[in-house]
Amino acid sequence: MPLQSRHLLGLEGVSRDDIQLVLDTATNFREVLERPIKKVPTLQGKTIVNLFFESSTRTRISFELAERRLSADVVNFSVAGSSVAKGETLKDTARNIEAMKIDMVVVRHSSPGAALFLSRVMNANIINAGDGTHEHPTQALLDMYTIREKFGKLEGLNVCIVGDISHSRVALSNIYGMQTMGANVSVCGPTTLIPKDIKKLGVKVYHNIDDAIRDADILNVLRIQLERQDRSFLPSTREYHNYFGITKERLSKSKKPITIMHPGPINRDVEISADVADGEQSVILQQVLNGVAVRMAVLYLLGTGN
Ligand code: CP
Repeated sequence: MPLQSRHLLGLEGVSRDDIQLVLDTATNFREVLERPIKKVPTLQGKTIVNLFFESSTRTRISFELAERRLSADVVNFSVAGSSVAKGETLKDTARNIEAMKIDMVVVRHSSPGAALFLSRVMNANIINAGDGTHEHPTQALLDMYTIREKFGKLEGLNVCIVGDISHSRVALSNIYGMQTMGANVSVCGPTTLIPKDIKKLGVKVYHNIDDAIRDADILNVLRIQLERQDRSFLPSTREYHNYFGITKERLSKSKKPITIMHPGPINRDVEISADVADGEQSVILQQVLNGVAVRMAVLYLLGTGN
């Protein structure tokens, strides 16, 4: 069965069947990544443009690797050095790129809704690689893949997202996707970094990290997004670490081993201590590896209409 949409703009409203299909397809591509020659001809003849208006390390490299491993032709666009500096609009940039006969666009932009906008002005398949504080659907899909790989399921697991929920696109995509797959999703952080109406999404809210750790199977730890904050939401990062930082000492109070996730980039010894980030409970680099397989799955399913 094909996916229900020809774009991936977010996980809000995406069905359980579609998420399952992406995760199952990613399992096949994960196997390709273990081969000596990590390449299949699936998207031969397709041209994909990576349209990055914001910084990225993981998502950008992961998409480019996924595209090349599917044998697509790849073009990378960065705002630096482009005609955006001369005042060209997003719509004009997109339509000029599309005039060169491209098939798919992966877009990262600081404005919520940028991917939706492109889906309305272009014929190409659009994949949202993070739009402002809105959604980051492939991050949540790779997070779900990593959990399913470790636990064999998502249903019934207690996943707590810790940190700057207000400025995070990862949080919203995690909440939508993981709830659809039957996980119990909660959030933990200072009141200044948790949206007031978040409970309407059906998540439990913690303001005490030790209570959150007591109940969680998995902690998805988020960075304090200082670049998206227009004023100070915290007295200091040191104080944040003291109250909410994930440390070995805090984790040792839990009766069960908690799996530690982080979408990156990490601010060591702010939201997470270095020894926890690098420790045996951490699956952070596994997330990065799985991201390539998950993005191959999304590109394949959208690019071939499967
Ligand atoms: N997780 C994530 O989106 O990282 P980048 O900003 O480096 O792409």
